[in-house]
Amino acid sequence: MRKITMLGTGLIGVFYTMAIHGQRSRDKVCTIYSRSEERGRKVAEEYGIARHTTSMEDAINDPETDTVVIGLPNDMHLEAVRLCAQAKKAVLCTKPLGRTAEEAKQMLQMVEEAGVFHGYLEDLAYTPKTLKALETIQAGALGKILWVRSRETHPGPHSDWFWNAKISGGGAMVDLGCHCIEIARNYIGKDVMPIEAMCWTATQVKPIEAEDHAIGLVKYANGAIAQFEVSWSFRGGMDLRDEVSGSEGVVRIDHFLRTGFEVYTAVGMGDYVAEKAESTKGWLFPVGDEVNTLGYNHMFTDMFDGIEQGKTPMESFYDGYIVNAIIDACYKSAKSKKWENIELEIWRGRTDIIEERILIEYDANHYLVKEEKLPDGRTKTILKEKESGKIIDRVS
Ligand SMILES: NC(=O)c1ccc[n+]([C@@H]2O[C@H](COP(=O)([O-])OP(=O)(O)OC[C@H]3O[C@@H](n4cnc5c(N)ncnc54)[C@H](O)[C@@H]3O)[C@@H](O)[C@H]2O)c1
Repeated sequence: MRKITMLGTGLIGVFYTMAIHGQRSRDKVCTIYSRSEERGRKVAEEYGIARHTTSMEDAINDPETDTVVIGLPNDMHLEAVRLCAQAKKAVLCTKPLGRTAEEAKQMLQMVEEAGVFHGYLEDLAYTPKTLKALETIQAGALGKILWVRSRETHPGPHSDWFWNAKISGGGAMVDLGCHCIEIARNYIGKDVMPIEAMCWTATQVKPIEAEDHAIGLVKYANGAIAQFEVSWSFRGGMDLRDEVSGSEGVVRIDHFLRTGFEVYTAVGMGDYVAEKAESTKGWLFPVGDEVNTLGYNHMFTDMFDGIEQGKTPMESFYDGYIVNAIIDACYKSAKSKKWENIELEIWRGRTDIIEERILIEYDANHYLVKEEKLPDGRTKTILKEKESGKIIDRVS
């Protein structure tokens, strides 16, 4: 059983508490930190939390708790991690780990020097659909992963601080791109080094300096490409989709907006349908169990099992650092309009992976390009002659 200090009573602090207290869970949030006494009391009452405080330090040092969960604005993660490392408590931090790779690196070093358990709360790597797809892909069902496309778009975040780049570290790219980047990294393989990034950003709608829209490419050492699409100016709810394309197959996942559950109501569906839904009337896309669909349950299970069994979770601060380093390169590229190197001061994956073409042997003299059944019943086999390099058709 974990006894938890929760830092933050906003959207994520509450989602995390709902996940931790969900079903017949034995883990418990025992102390909650909110800068507002009134909000702290309200959340504590609603979720049966024994203590609430307006002091972050007191919350972290509560002698009754053993694990701290950070659900605070991005500029507060570093200080919160520093206090947790000092208190020698297991620390789980929401995404993005830092505003920059430099901040994330400091956090990684702090927890490693203190010898405390650390987990990066990247919930979208833990959705039931992602976990099933990862298992399938790691077993080889898609062959070599060539291209991953991940999208998170919605009409914009729900609090003032997100819109202030000094506090948040940027715009839609750091806020949402961090999810897409880590999803793709999981599919491509965490041992494969991300090497270069190319990115477009723009501020198309919102009255801010930071980007409200970004599209980026991240190239990996084995030649795989990850593509992310993020927006704070997308209308119609929250669109979370992933596509994985491999040499032997494809996975397509729709996590949130169109999951096969659609409701039409002329009179309205209460006052909450799903995160970032824009309407409660008309055609709606509710989510059966939001906390589970978004991966929070499986994520905390992995984290708490990791603490109790002394094993590294699937997502650690090291992963958060790699994500921040990729995002730094993306911001650099958006400015330079060129491919930019991903600077990794810390890299623990493989360094011997090179880009390799997959050639399918047809016979001793030919490579197979492709085979196709035509509408008139013929089958065409397209081959490449190894010696001459000529491409030929065989019709049967
Ligand atoms: N899917 C996810 O993993 C996910 C989703 C949303 C947010 N997040 C992350 O969670 C963190 C918090 O986001 P949120 O959506 O809960 O934001 P929020 O605005 O809903 O809540 C932020 C919390 O921090 C408190 N806070 C704000 N400014 C503060 C200050 N200066 N001093 C002390 N407390 C302050 C607020 O009162 C609130 O309790 C961010 O890092 C965000 O990126 C993660």
